[in-house]
Amino acid sequence: MEKVKNTFDVAIIGGGINGSSIAYQLSKIGKKVVLLEKNQLACEASSAAAGMLAAQAEIEQDGPFFQLALKSQSMFQALSNELLEMTGIDIEFIQKGMIKIAETEEMAKEVQQQAAFQRNWDPEIEWLDRNSLLKLEPSLSQNVTGGMYLPNDGHVQPAKLSQAFANAAELLGATILENTEVLSLIYENDRVIGVKTTLGNLHCQQVVLATGAWASKLLQETGLDITVYPVKGECFSVKTDTPIINRTIFSDKRCYIVPKRNGEIYIGATQVENTFDKKVTPGGIIRLIERAVKLVPQIKDAPWERVWAGVRPQTGDGLPYIGEHPFKKGLFIAAGHYRNGILLSPVTGTLVADLLQGKSDENLLKAFRIDRNKAKVY
Ligand code: FAD
Ligand code: GLY
Repeated sequence: MEKVKNTFDVAIIGGGINGSSIAYQLSKIGKKVVLLEKNQLACEASSAAAGMLAAQAEIEQDGPFFQLALKSQSMFQALSNELLEMTGIDIEFIQKGMIKIAETEEMAKEVQQQAAFQRNWDPEIEWLDRNSLLKLEPSLSQNVTGGMYLPNDGHVQPAKLSQAFANAAELLGATILENTEVLSLIYENDRVIGVKTTLGNLHCQQVVLATGAWASKLLQETGLDITVYPVKGECFSVKTDTPIINRTIFSDKRCYIVPKRNGEIYIGATQVENTFDKKVTPGGIIRLIERAVKLVPQIKDAPWERVWAGVRPQTGDGLPYIGEHPFKKGLFIAAGHYRNGILLSPVTGTLVADLLQGKSDENLLKAFRIDRNKAKVY
């Protein structure tokens, strides 16, 4: 620890996309920040994700979560320009649209209702029948019934966005320590005053836990038992020289197809609850292949690229925790972003930066408070 100054304003635990976004926003307002990652930056969910910014496809009702997702989605264009200018990293923000597919008449009714609801926020969203869809995406199966077309939907390259946040934070003075695990928090009475790490102790005035699916571990020792658990997602990709599809094809939460800029097409993802094991199983990939080929038959003959898996951080009620610890002063949590942590990373960074300065929007954050479900205190 000799070479590292060991006193900071804020220690952020977890170098995933949310920890890095928070480090960036805090560095921007002049805080002296250290970002601590037990392995490498973005080595977990934040590099496994497909990078969809799918607020409208994944969230089907209005409420604080949907509004937070829309707010974050609207931040991507400016953020992409800002990060490119600062770091030279292109986060590959591509806004070519998404189609939420209905494969049966029954699904068509639901998706049509969703399209009508989503038009409240984007009047360009529309329901398209089979023929109109096939004009847009000729490689789609002739068997699709129709779909909701979201012309303004986009996606990013999650690992690049995570790295860009971290690089930008570092350029603004943040210290980034990889291969450094936080073992416990240090308190004086009920105030957090530092962290004990595998490299030694660090002192700080505030701590942010951005530890994804591992969030329960350090929280339990504070006497707060909140539920954050892992949900494994397996994916595979193919890569073609000429594009098969141009837009994201989203069937449901267990099958989506995302064409990336380099010709790779990501196909995700399974949902396996309560495991941190990132092994990829043939059973999981076979189910994905069957579903993807049913939607886009040419995928069957496309050159194979790779498989991978990551662990989504899910909470008891499906909402992330963003807020201050109810009885440990100076301790904040930003974890449990489940299926939407890439989408929510920009707004998570700005909200946490506001929170730490004591100027957060209570109304906006009410639904995400840590004690919202009367978490067990013992
Ligand atoms: P993580 O990325 O898990 O980072 C937490 C970090 O904390 C880890 O790097 C871990 O090593 C570190 N850590 C834990 N404990 C400690 C400790 N004690 N000390 C130091 N470091 C510690 N989201 C979207 O918005 N769009 C998508 O299209 C999308 N697709 C997905 C597809 C798959 C297959 C998966 C698995 C997820 C997907 N997600 C998607 C969800 C998204 O990836 C996550 O919500 C997001 O990455 C969570 O980021 P995070 O920074 O909160 O957590
Ligand atoms: N949001 C896509 C996934 O979590 O698989």
